[in-house]
Amino acid sequence: MKKISIAIDGPAGAGKSTIAKIISKKLKITYIDTGAMYRALTLKLLDNKINLDDINSIKKILTNTTIDFKNNNIYLDGKIVNEQIRTNKVNNNVSKVAKIKEVREELVKKQRQIACNKSVVMDGRDIGTYVLPYATFKFFITASVEERGKRRYKDLIKKEKDITLEKVIEEIKIRDKIDSTRELSPLKMSKDAILIDTTYKTIEETVNEILTYIKEGR
Ligand code: C5P
Repeated sequence: MKKISIAIDGPAGAGKSTIAKIISKKLKITYIDTGAMYRALTLKLLDNKINLDDINSIKKILTNTTIDFKNNNIYLDGKIVNEQIRTNKVNNNVSKVAKIKEVREELVKKQRQIACNKSVVMDGRDIGTYVLPYATFKFFITASVEERGKRRYKDLIKKEKDITLEKVIEEIKIRDKIDSTRELSPLKMSKDAILIDTTYKTIEETVNEILTYIKEGR
């Protein structure tokens, strides 16, 4: 199979990572969850009690941090942090960290390195517009904010008992606003991306729709 790259962008809770993971398995290509990279760095900053306005300390931490993927696990400084990066605390701080120029430069460099010599499916906010502008396929996956909130709530309530659906929807709206209005590579649909609204679609339907586009476009 010739080398391909698939960019999947969209707002929080649209189902991007679930869908990207299935596509990576079906096509036997590498999956890169770029949101997990911003989350891992945020986790480290929070654990080290770094003030998120203190750019100098953040830059220092950035030069002393390794973030890697192996077998669909995310490693922060050599330790698996799959669960720790999905807490509500990280959810509510990650967009602030992801706005920082030095953070984006460093993580985008790493994302491009991973994608440069193999086929990948990469999900995030700026993949089709900035990280991989020449991606073979670009999709923009979205859903109503109520539906996205419900999906996130279902995940979070298993581990965090004092959250409510209303609060989760409110927090998603705040995150979307920061992500789509920030100065550097904001969340935006690339002009050449295919838009998929998953509000009334199952995961399987969305995956099949994407695979059909890929088969026809190849
Ligand atoms: O995709 P996920 O919800 O895990 O992303 C977490 C956060 O990381 C986003 O809300 C956004 O602030 C940031 N992000 C980003 N660019 C990406 C991927 C994620 O700014 N490519």
